[in-house]
Amino acid sequence: MNAPISNQDFIPADLPEPTFRDLAHLPGMEPVRFKLLRTLKFLANPLGKSRELVAQYGNIFRRQDLGGWGVSLIGPEANEMVLFNKDKVFSSDLGWTPILHLLFPRGLMLMDFEEHRIHRKTLSVAFKTEPMRHYFAQLDEGITRGLAKWPRGASFKFYPTIKALTLDLAATSFLGVPWGPEAQKINKAFCDMVAASVAVIRKPLPFTAMKRGVDGRAFMSAYFAREIPKRRGQTGDDIFTQVCNATNESGELLTDQEIIDHMNFLMMAAHDTTTSSISSIAWCLAKHPEWQDRIREEIAGIRARHGALSYETLGEMNVTEMVFKEAMRLIPPVPSMPRRALRDFTFGNHVVPAGAHIGINQMMTHRLPEYWPNPEQYDPTRFTPENSRGRHKYAWVPFGGGAHMCLGQHFAYMQVKMFFFALLEGHRIVSDTPLGDVESDFSMFPIPKPKDGLPVRIEAL
Ligand code: HEM
Repeated sequence: MNAPISNQDFIPADLPEPTFRDLAHLPGMEPVRFKLLRTLKFLANPLGKSRELVAQYGNIFRRQDLGGWGVSLIGPEANEMVLFNKDKVFSSDLGWTPILHLLFPRGLMLMDFEEHRIHRKTLSVAFKTEPMRHYFAQLDEGITRGLAKWPRGASFKFYPTIKALTLDLAATSFLGVPWGPEAQKINKAFCDMVAASVAVIRKPLPFTAMKRGVDGRAFMSAYFAREIPKRRGQTGDDIFTQVCNATNESGELLTDQEIIDHMNFLMMAAHDTTTSSISSIAWCLAKHPEWQDRIREEIAGIRARHGALSYETLGEMNVTEMVFKEAMRLIPPVPSMPRRALRDFTFGNHVVPAGAHIGINQMMTHRLPEYWPNPEQYDPTRFTPENSRGRHKYAWVPFGGGAHMCLGQHFAYMQVKMFFFALLEGHRIVSDTPLGDVESDFSMFPIPKPKDGLPVRIEAL
């Protein structure tokens, strides 16, 4: 499929790179000589540091890191302006390219406007009701098989264990590969790519994570290239086969290279985010066991009414959904979203120049007390229909918003609900160590994870 309109048609060739002087009229950081030190300090505690910056400067400020100067925007109004992007001022491609380009080029988030619309619509077939029903069946089998192997009563680290399980699940539902040695090889290559996308050393030098990532990409790309001809014209129940046969508005199939790029990106977008959110929920539930009991009551109700959980009855897991939403408010798996301004724009009383690197910070928006009273408190009832009524649509954006809103969010809800249904029905999660708060227990960047891997026990009831 050759998209008629490319990003380049929208992006000025001479887009400037704003310096401190161009941003000097904004509140914010002063220049320092040791940018690396400043960046490392931020990365050591992004939540605490962001809190300080918002308290000091407000909802728009200039910031400096290793990559140069940028502008942070906080709050629902900023989220709406940037994500809804009514006037097509903000480029997602130019925001994400410095981070993802080497390993995940030409993924959906690295496209803009008309080209993005066409590709997104084409890929959407893989997330319609019928394919989702098939993924439900595959996830059901995979979760049951995976959980059966988890230790009972003995301590283990939740984070690496769920990470391994979500990878195994991806092999079947994303690729249609049966669980076994081939899936293991794919998993390894894929893990190397994801690790490299957030590595500090950005060049594929020997023995670095980036080199392993680039090799992983070559392995995955060769795998997809070999498989595409076998999947074309087939009716498979996995995302890969759906994408191989998806057509655009003109009835054209995606090219082989487009399929390779979309599949690599889709797997990356799905994996660490789901792993992060399930770990955060487990942390919240271990800290607030009364919510485990409430989920268990919900499960018992579904059993009593329907016998088993099905794709249709997922919608009845309202308590689990609130628990999930509140965990993602406190610990959003994508803590910030980068964009680049293609033209000057105004926010509040401030004019921000074209070319500026913009950061939406949902980690902080999700803690603004005017929308979230007592923000550090874990309280899933914030998401009852009554309590949600009237809240700004962009006050809670763990899945983003506007044209680039997460394409896999229903898949994520499904997987999370199925996992906790299977885990909590006959078991409870107990933390093996005293739990602190988000700031002490999680490293938030680039994707949040428990600092100690979250040692827990799964106890039979
Ligand atoms: C809890 C789990 C997840 C979270 C929190 C999450 C979050 C996000 C966010 C914030 C974005 C938008 C980024 C931006 O606008 O800059 C996004 C985009 C995307 N996500 Fe997810 N995601 C999750 C799971 C998934 C899954 C399971 C899939 C696939 C099955 C997926 C596929 C995608 C894709 C394809 C995009 C790009 C959409 C576009 O650019 O049009 N995500 N996700």
